[in-house]
Amino acid sequence: MSGETLSNLLSEGRRFPPPAALAAEANVTAEAYERAAADGEAFWAAAADRLDWAAPWTQVRDWSDPPFARWFVGGRLNAAYNCVDRHVEAGNGERVAFHWEGEPGDTRTLTYADLKDEVSRAANALLALGVQAGDRIAIYMPMIPETVVAMLACARIGAPHTVVFGGFSADALRGRILDCDAHVVITADGGYRKGAASALKPAVDEAVAQCPDVRSVLVVRRTGQDVAWTEGRDVWWHELVAAQYAEHEPEAFDAEHPLYIMYTSGTTARPKGILHTTGGYLTQAAWSHWAVFDVKPDRDVYWTAADIGWVTGHSYIVYGPLANGVTSVLYEGTPDTPHQGRWWEIVQKYGVTILYCAPTAIRTFMKWGEEIPERFDLSSLRLLGSVGEPINPEAWVWYRQAIGGDRCPVVDTWWQTETGAQMISPLPGVSTCKPGSALRPLPGISAEVVDDAGNPVPNGSGGYLVLTQPWPSMLRTIWGDEQRYIDTYWSRFPGYYFAGDGAKKDEDGDIWLLGRVDDVMNVSGHRISTTEVESALVSHPYVAEAAVVGAADPTTGQGIVAFVILRGAGERAAATAQGDDLAKELRSHVAKEIGPIARPRQLLVVAELPKTRSGKIMRRLLRDIAENRALGDVTTLTDSTVMDAIREGLPSGA
Ligand code: WT7
Repeated sequence: MSGETLSNLLSEGRRFPPPAALAAEANVTAEAYERAAADGEAFWAAAADRLDWAAPWTQVRDWSDPPFARWFVGGRLNAAYNCVDRHVEAGNGERVAFHWEGEPGDTRTLTYADLKDEVSRAANALLALGVQAGDRIAIYMPMIPETVVAMLACARIGAPHTVVFGGFSADALRGRILDCDAHVVITADGGYRKGAASALKPAVDEAVAQCPDVRSVLVVRRTGQDVAWTEGRDVWWHELVAAQYAEHEPEAFDAEHPLYIMYTSGTTARPKGILHTTGGYLTQAAWSHWAVFDVKPDRDVYWTAADIGWVTGHSYIVYGPLANGVTSVLYEGTPDTPHQGRWWEIVQKYGVTILYCAPTAIRTFMKWGEEIPERFDLSSLRLLGSVGEPINPEAWVWYRQAIGGDRCPVVDTWWQTETGAQMISPLPGVSTCKPGSALRPLPGISAEVVDDAGNPVPNGSGGYLVLTQPWPSMLRTIWGDEQRYIDTYWSRFPGYYFAGDGAKKDEDGDIWLLGRVDDVMNVSGHRISTTEVESALVSHPYVAEAAVVGAADPTTGQGIVAFVILRGAGERAAATAQGDDLAKELRSHVAKEIGPIARPRQLLVVAELPKTRSGKIMRRLLRDIAENRALGDVTTLTDSTVMDAIREGLPSGA
């Protein structure tokens, strides 16, 4: 973020105190907040009591072997039982768990009782396929109820799931299946996106062709499109699952039993398998969902408009809301299908009271104009949330006014795949919100902004965001790579968890997140590493070398800008094809290798890249170019004329 944006942020003076009516009935009041913040471990012990434990824990946290934490030591529980069965047993079986809306307009309503039957059947089906506790299962699905059912069925039998976003490529899927050694894949023929059936099964077939250990592929029929079928390996969900009993006795697992692995981009080309376990994760997902969204399970209609393939979907579509017994909306499609008011139509139709989405969506809606939401009745909304990237104050205020009717608090929640649950956020009944600030760590969380030497910065200064104490839903390790876990998160500032984000404390000590400080980009709230895109580019026969940077983008937060040096074949192609065609082909190649979200916004062919004397690409200078700025310090460059050459070669307006 440029210095100019930063000072704009900190001169943001608008303040929004909690609405009196909300504060009076809030799940967390100002008084409870004070108490909680002082409580330490006792606070988390009380939060864990929100769950049903089959055997009690004997110790809240064990931090005797840092950075390896254990929470609720000795406790045993079943996550699916906590998300489903216990609500049915408490007499709430008829409460709607999900109002599901398919993109073409088909709908399904699932009560908690329905969910219990479906999850039990699916658990029995997985057992029939020979799955045992501890086995990993990959899930590659559209946004349909079966996706939730599949995750909970895995949790029920203790088989950690790894959900791979349906927009990822066959290669990305294969890499994840192999990394965690999954032997079973759950998928669908396809899903609906942008008004058309979009296939998923072919990518699974392509991925699994090189995964010799995958023995079963369980396929949900969603679109009815033709699929290739491998006898003996592929099984229809509607045949296998429907044939099972709707009774399944959930087994209690250790609090530290693995619940899921979620892959996320790091600073190398290889994604990291973030491991979450059961007791601490579910405790913090449930508590934060209850506190930050102030949910009233008997009244609210809650909607996280994100994909289940990201951690936001795991914690705030599946585990948090279901652990709290809340009614949610689940929507399959895109916001502009069949029209740009689709989200607001859904809010009106189901009477959504709480909406949680990403700033990139909000900025898109701003662009489309507020006359679109104005056509719908949004008066049911009472609270709005934002997640995934820094939200600029203008978007925050627009969200509050155009969507929230100037009455709904906006909670800007900072967290990560690794943190498992929200960490820094306002509490809607307590906090006076500042547009663009996530404010303070939640109760039970200790965050700090430190300088290069790891010392806390004074108010009014910036630095790196760290977490100074372990928390219940923290990642336990990187799957199969403990050393990388230690190196990535716990080595930069000894004793502290390094989040990879820059942050600033304002004069009140409130925290403003400023974006990543490492080689990780944030495009539309999705994390993509520069090296991941670079290695995809270099895998193309035309490309000799590539450097990728994230450049500020008014809609997506950051846009991917790639600089490539061509090989001979590429130069010959460039001489015959139009430069535009070549760029288009390379951009599409990245989309094919990683997924459409990684397609560079811009691709520039250059003769040389700026490098330091030790050979490191100076991305900072490329960012200056991509963002149209005067160049920063070039004294460490091997050859300072390189930058002039790049500038001269730019298409006008780039
Ligand atoms: C990165 C984590 C949290 C689930 C979705 C993304 C950025 C996230 C905020 C926020 C500023 C934010 C950070 C973080 N980020 N929320 N409220 N304000 N930045 O999860 O893919 O693991 O990405 O997203 O840079 O490190 P993720």
